Amino acid sequence: MTRTAPLAPFPTLDDAQLAGKRVLIRVDLNVPMEAGKVADGTRMDRILPNLREIAGKGAKVIILSHLGRPKGTPDPQYSLKPVAPELAARLGKPVAFAPDCIGQVAKDAVASMKDGDYLLLENTRFHPGEQKNSSDFTAALAELGDVYVNDAFSTAHRAHASTEGLAHKLPSFAGRSMQVELEILTNLLANPAHPVMAIVGGAKVSTKLELLGNLMRRVDILVIGGGMANTFLAAERKAIGKSICEMEFADVARQIMSDAGKERCKIVLPIDVVVAPKLAPDAPAHVIDVDHVSPGDMILDIGPETVAQIEALLETTHTLVWNGPFGAFETPPFDAGTTDVAMVAAKLTKSGQLESVAGGGDTIAALNKAGVAKDFTYVSTAGGAFLEWLEGKRLPGVEALRNSARRL
Ligand code: 3PG
Repeated sequence: MTRTAPLAPFPTLDDAQLAGKRVLIRVDLNVPMEAGKVADGTRMDRILPNLREIAGKGAKVIILSHLGRPKGTPDPQYSLKPVAPELAARLGKPVAFAPDCIGQVAKDAVASMKDGDYLLLENTRFHPGEQKNSSDFTAALAELGDVYVNDAFSTAHRAHASTEGLAHKLPSFAGRSMQVELEILTNLLANPAHPVMAIVGGAKVSTKLELLGNLMRRVDILVIGGGMANTFLAAERKAIGKSICEMEFADVARQIMSDAGKERCKIVLPIDVVVAPKLAPDAPAHVIDVDHVSPGDMILDIGPETVAQIEALLETTHTLVWNGPFGAFETPPFDAGTTDVAMVAAKLTKSGQLESVAGGGDTIAALNKAGVAKDFTYVSTAGGAFLEWLEGKRLPGVEALRNSARRL
């Protein structure tokens, strides 16, 4: 669904009576795990103030989340059990764990809570009803609470029982991190300071067509990077050697460039690139202008002239929205273009010249690697949801909250 009608307000914790209530709160603890430990706690850290606020208001805090993509049945590798002590360490309070999110086990765990206590329930995706958004499963979850709080913007593009269904069953509110995310992103798309630049990277044009179409109507400069830039270069009949490319989308790329011209949106493509015979850390890399890529070359990053061009444009830009790295950033030296542009964006943000918002798993990883994520105005922890929001879609988890506001 695309956004056409004006957006309704969504209810926040300011509208909620929480003292003495059992609050079912959906968060996104879909965190990277390594050897049974949380490898990156960014998503956990974001939800802590919200959890503390709800507990501080005298509610029982019953935490729901998914982890990974189990197939609707218990799967130990996706258990949330190891997350409970890590959450407890961050909160500085005990977090009990129940080995199921519905049924007697969950009911007993909730019944033993006191006001202000925390309880984490096992992975919601261990039941098939979660992803099917089945009314039975939603009802079984709803039995555990009096109030529903959704603080998981990053799962709001999923119409699942715990992300959407519950908002139809219980008085519902956006949590604080959901609220911040919605306020920032709404403002960003509806009312940005111009000139606005969007940087869109990533491997495939085919996965970002709606994004490019929506952004070109809203931004002044659209910088295309990553593997998808190769398709645009090929569409301009430039040789791209062995680089990844979706030649079948060359016509679409030409159409995007022509439509952007009509929308007065300047498209920026690489003017020089870093090439190597293969993608490997030890591969002999060199910089070449885009008119001289040879058949044995793979384009793996933008070159210094392209970086300088983007940096010069950033100097006069007031708002930046960034999704997707420029090159094969996981493999040095092909991270240099992304790192250099990220550092300039961070510097301009710190000096107050630029509002910078970034999101998407790879983008966050790239900004973290460059050590500048903290200097951006806002970094969304959402991947797919951030992308769908930028595509102009309405997110089921958010829409359910807005509808519940109409009922309050
Ligand atoms: C994410 O990591 O983007 C969210 O947790 C959603 O996960 P999913 O793509 O498995 O639904």
